[in-house]
Amino acid sequence: MRALIVGGGAREHAVGVTLARAGAEIIVASPHANPGLERIARASVRVDVDQAQRIADFGEREEIDYAVIGPEAALAAGTSDALRAAEIPVVGPSQAAARIESSKLYCRELLQRHAIGGQPVWRAPERIEQVEATLAEFSGPLVIKPSGLTAGKGVWVQGPDFTDARPGAAYAKSLLAQGQRVLIEEKLEGEEFSQMAFVTDSGVYPMPAVQDFKRALEGDKSGNTGGMGSYSQRDHLLPFLSAAQRDRSIEILSQAVAALRSEGLEFRGILYGGFMLTAKGPMLLEFNARFGDPEGVNAMTLYEDGNFDELLYGVACGRVDPTLIRFRSRATVLKYVVPPGYGDRPQPGGVVELDEAAIEADGVHVFYGSVEPAGPAAVRLGTSRGIALIGEASAIHEAGARVEAALAHVHGDFYVRHDIGTLEDLARRREHMRQLFVPGAKSSPLPLSVAAPGAPPSSAAPDEMRA
Ligand code: AMP
Ligand code: GLY
Repeated sequence: MRALIVGGGAREHAVGVTLARAGAEIIVASPHANPGLERIARASVRVDVDQAQRIADFGEREEIDYAVIGPEAALAAGTSDALRAAEIPVVGPSQAAARIESSKLYCRELLQRHAIGGQPVWRAPERIEQVEATLAEFSGPLVIKPSGLTAGKGVWVQGPDFTDARPGAAYAKSLLAQGQRVLIEEKLEGEEFSQMAFVTDSGVYPMPAVQDFKRALEGDKSGNTGGMGSYSQRDHLLPFLSAAQRDRSIEILSQAVAALRSEGLEFRGILYGGFMLTAKGPMLLEFNARFGDPEGVNAMTLYEDGNFDELLYGVACGRVDPTLIRFRSRATVLKYVVPPGYGDRPQPGGVVELDEAAIEADGVHVFYGSVEPAGPAAVRLGTSRGIALIGEASAIHEAGARVEAALAHVHGDFYVRHDIGTLEDLARRREHMRQLFVPGAKSSPLPLSVAAPGAPPSSAAPDEMRA
């Protein structure tokens, strides 16, 4: 079939490669020429992803069978609606249903209206004069976030981003003064994970759980970013996440889809729950209405070869054959090559030389993001995430080691988080969860979940947490 991919990041490059492998013809609508997508595209146009009507007109001209929308800005601008008005099936909800991502206030209110659990305590002061009194309602640490889209960067967490209440209040007031709605939430303690699912009229079909690394620097230091890398575990759980906890997060996704539907909003696309696993179980941080970037790349890498085209076309048309939902039992680790200073003050323009054939020969895949070609084996970094390297193996730390080995074929001035997918980092996360379950517990050497091949990979983790 002929598929239009909207967007030009590494996530969209991975969608293109996975679809092309299934025999699809690739058409691209993206603001910049992604070198990876350009290689496989039959046709491609430069257009901002919020130009809904232009994208729909291009899709019609190219006689596409369906469209897959990558970035949230395209969904928020109504690109799905413009395509559907031209009778083109779309993987991506309508602008109205995508408010579950584009308005955090809408999302919290929807879940509250339908009494869906797993939410932190939250408030949304409407006026600047209400900010102080609202803050005073919280006894513990807070999180302050604008209601609208912020590419993961507008959220202020008490502790890492601000200490006492005063700068927090000033931030909340400044958002209100700019005409934005603002949410003040109880700060949740735990480990974050992403649970994505294909959603159609016929059901909610989960993908493997993934952990994203949001903070810019190693050791989870510095500000939030779009995501510096991610990993997934062979059994589709995570070192700190049990099957029951994952099932609970999928239940919250299903309840949200049912809530939208009961308010007359159909959802055909990808629903992504960003959860905090707390001592009380999974709590919802946010929904996204699309594949995560990078988490979608982990899921697509694990997708069984062959049927992605049929699967996505089915999602777009509202009905999928459940036997098409098949993910391999392998661990994956993804690391993003980014410009120095990415997060706060990215320094674009650096040239990165890479030997793609040698990287692929090491079993690591390359997906391009914000880069432009700079010669036969080189790209120039932009201001955002440049090159995703993803490796797989039977254990997470082995997949991470593969990516580290592949980095020997990448040269230039860039930053990458070497700690993603290391045994030390995995142990730190499990210990973090253990401390929440047993306050004051002394740290002790833990059996690592990244078990030897043949052993059940995560059996130790949930038992450890319940201890
Ligand atoms: P969001 O865009 O709402 O997912 O927030 C971005 C990031 O801010 C999340 O991935 C978390 O790291 C952090 N965050 C958001 N809300 C909370 C919360 N209520 N408690 C703790 N951290 C949060
Ligand atoms: N990695 C987080 C996101 O896709 O929003």
